[in-house]
Amino acid sequence: MAMETFFQDCRRRAVFCFILVHVWQAVTGQIHYSIPEEAEKGSFVGPIAKDLKLELKELSRRGVRIVSRGRTQYFALNYKSGHLYVTERIDREVLCGQVEKCVLNFDTIVGDSMKVYGAEVEITDINDNAPTFHSEKLELKMSELTAPGTHFPLDEARDLDLGTNTLQGYKLSNSSHFSLNVQEAVDGRQYTELVLERPLDREEEAIHNLVLTAYDGGDPVRTGTLQIQVTVLDANDNAPVFSHHSYEVSVREDIPVGTTVVILKAIDLDEGVNKELKYSFRKITERASQIFHLNSQTGEITLARGLDYEESTLHEIEVQVHDGGELFDKSQLLIFVTDVNDNAPKLEITSLISSIPENSPPATAIALLNVQDEDSAENAEVTCSIPSNLPFLLTKAYGNYYSLVTARALDREQVAAYNITVTVTDHGTPPLSTSIVIPLEILDTNDNPPHFLHSIYTSYLMENNPRGASIFSLKADDPDCGENSRVTYSIIEHNISDSPVSSFLSINSETGIVYGLISFDYEEMREIKFLVKAQDGGSPSLSSNVSVTLFILDQNDNAPQILYPSPPTDGSMGIELAPRSSEPGYLVTKVVAVDADSGQNAWLSYQLIKATEPGLFTLGLHTGEIRTARFFLEKDALKQSLVVLVKDNGQPPLSASATLTVVLADTIPAILSDLSSISAPVEPPSDLTFYLVLAVAFVSCLFFIFLLVLLAVRLHRWRNSQLFESGSVNFSGAPVSQFVGIDGVRAFLHSYCQEVSLTTDSRKSQFNISKANYSNTLSNKDTCEIKDPFLIAEDINSSNGDSANTQSLYDNCINQILLRSMQTFGVNYVLSHLEYKIQG
Ligand SMILES: *[C@@H]1O[C@H](CO)[C@@H](O)[C@H](O)[C@H]1NC(C)=O
Ligand SMILES: *[C@@H]1O[C@H](CO)[C@@H](O)[C@H](O)[C@H]1NC(C)=O
Ligand SMILES: *[C@@H]1O[C@H](CO)[C@@H](O)[C@H](O)[C@H]1NC(C)=O
Ligand SMILES: *[C@@H]1O[C@H](CO)[C@@H](O)[C@H](O)[C@H]1NC(C)=O
Repeated sequence: MAMETFFQDCRRRAVFCFILVHVWQAVTGQIHYSIPEEAEKGSFVGPIAKDLKLELKELSRRGVRIVSRGRTQYFALNYKSGHLYVTERIDREVLCGQVEKCVLNFDTIVGDSMKVYGAEVEITDINDNAPTFHSEKLELKMSELTAPGTHFPLDEARDLDLGTNTLQGYKLSNSSHFSLNVQEAVDGRQYTELVLERPLDREEEAIHNLVLTAYDGGDPVRTGTLQIQVTVLDANDNAPVFSHHSYEVSVREDIPVGTTVVILKAIDLDEGVNKELKYSFRKITERASQIFHLNSQTGEITLARGLDYEESTLHEIEVQVHDGGELFDKSQLLIFVTDVNDNAPKLEITSLISSIPENSPPATAIALLNVQDEDSAENAEVTCSIPSNLPFLLTKAYGNYYSLVTARALDREQVAAYNITVTVTDHGTPPLSTSIVIPLEILDTNDNPPHFLHSIYTSYLMENNPRGASIFSLKADDPDCGENSRVTYSIIEHNISDSPVSSFLSINSETGIVYGLISFDYEEMREIKFLVKAQDGGSPSLSSNVSVTLFILDQNDNAPQILYPSPPTDGSMGIELAPRSSEPGYLVTKVVAVDADSGQNAWLSYQLIKATEPGLFTLGLHTGEIRTARFFLEKDALKQSLVVLVKDNGQPPLSASATLTVVLADTIPAILSDLSSISAPVEPPSDLTFYLVLAVAFVSCLFFIFLLVLLAVRLHRWRNSQLFESGSVNFSGAPVSQFVGIDGVRAFLHSYCQEVSLTTDSRKSQFNISKANYSNTLSNKDTCEIKDPFLIAEDINSSNGDSANTQSLYDNCINQILLRSMQTFGVNYVLSHLEYKIQG
């Protein structure tokens, strides 16, 4: 097929060439060939040998040569075929450019004949060049605001070929916005323009890619393309738009300064400066403008100052955004401030009492408090409280007022002052609280009596204490304070054996030290019971008393007193009988002694310190019993004299001695006969004794005479008064002492002696009497002697029954009276002897 086509083509060309040559030969007489450009090397051009009428065989012999009139030899002669063929590539566009007729001339030189034949080869155009543009790519920039219909000239394409092979026209790729306008200039060249058909929108399509195609008329058609990139330039055709029509944010009031509240966001579809947005407040309150700061670049709203819910709960702001041009948008910004429990409740004391007396009744008002919380809702709900262990109550009074009252009775002695901590807490999370301290002082009232440290006081005091010495002290406390606790002591007055206790003791009212006013005697008073009162200085004052027992302790200050054998009263010694026939151990007698002291001081022991016949009698150490130790012998003296020493167990011991005589006889007559014999050896009384007896006898006589005279005078007066006022006797005017008379004297004597005998009867007390007598104070006995005579007379009547006893008493009494009168004479020594003698 290919071969067939080729041959057909060749034949067609050959015919065509043949015709041409002949036509042209006819005109010019010159050989003319025509070949298409770009023919391959070796391509047949023309049968030049034949056309020159040269024999093929002669060609080389005749030296036929082809000489091109240029440098390049495009053609050569084939000597065998006599054809002219192409030796070089022939590009018509290079050789001739846009010259329509492109001819290559060459000469054929026949060497032997020196003939030259000119010939020409016309190079015909083939479509070997496509239309081309200067550049492959064209970039166009157009504002999006470019009006439709605007023309944009485009590059033209070139096609080096000629005729139909050259550029025929243009076409533009599909585009919704652009069309192509081709115009033909006078020179026939075509100019292309891009025409904007519709308005551009960068935001819709920023870049339009177009392809301009130039085509020629060759077969096949060749094309050249130009890429056209249309960049749509931005115009500020879009207003910025906020992302939200209105912004609503809610922020806690406690967010710190600098925190971002909200970021405004606006969108501008434009580009570049047209997209540069600036945010600003449009409408804002003065207050809000201080609080919020708007970054105009980023649209970020930050806090410049702290928020306060209590000040403003909502900030309403109008914001706007501008782009680089004149376009803007606005939006509403609502900032809700939410409450945070940032305000602690406030506690205020409206009124206050700083001190109350301890006896205030329950529900006594102390303080009125006012509570405020600036937060809202739960954050403003408060609870007010005080520690539960305090005796106070916090009650809601009215609204936000609370009153603090006492819950129960107070006791200053337990708690003298309170610090009442009132705490108020709100219900926020976390809760906030405030507390204040209310100091309260409890004032003292005298509600506590003085209290002694011990319920009973016991003290011991050795007798014979120095007067005025402190004995002991006691103390009472009063828990009250000030005057209410100032304790004064006193001894409650009462009588101890008819003497007020204040005569024995006194107490220092301030210190509570008890002093003994007298020197105590155990034998007189063994204990003193009294009450001490402690009284405070309150008003009214309170007091309490305590019982105090003061025990007097014994000292060995009394010597033993021998009761039997009694001291001699009738001039003779105590005589005991012991039958001669008595067995050993026979109880002869018993020495009886007492000691006024007590305990060890009164524990007596008996000792035989002297005996006529040692070993004849034994003496019980503690019994005082004198017993025979053996049978009496003839040689034993009739009269045995024993000296007994009685000693107490005190420290140091005191003692007394007694002498007794034991007569060894069986009967009384024997005693009497013996007595005479005993009298003889008795040594005669000394002269001193004799004179003393004489003096006593003399004084006694004088006293008797005095008594008789006194008696006589009284008797005489009594008789006279009876004579004068017989019948109606009125004694009222006369002194009582004048009615005593004989009976009075008897009564006087009787009373005195009764006392003496009474004291004598109670052996123990006898010592008291004698002691009192010897000391000159006579304090107790004076009362006896100045007794009312009538009372004495009554005493006599009451004691009439035992008259026998009375008689002997009288005798004793006489002696006592004598003694008294002697004492007044001040001869005590004599008296002691006299008493002995007279009683004997
Ligand atoms: C161009 O548009 C025509 C008609 O509108 C259509 O037939 C053709 O396919 C389009 N070509 C391209 C490359 O879009
Ligand atoms: C109360 O508080 C004051 C001051 O802090 C203090 O001096 C006082 O001792 C306190 N009183 C009591 C009873 O706690
Ligand atoms: C106490 O004794 C005095 C005299 O010594 C007497 O006047 C007074 O009445 C006595 N009081 C009592 C309560 O016995
Ligand atoms: C001593 O106190 C008691 C109560 O403690 C009281 O009954 C009595 O009367 C008081 N005695 C005197 C003398 O005050």
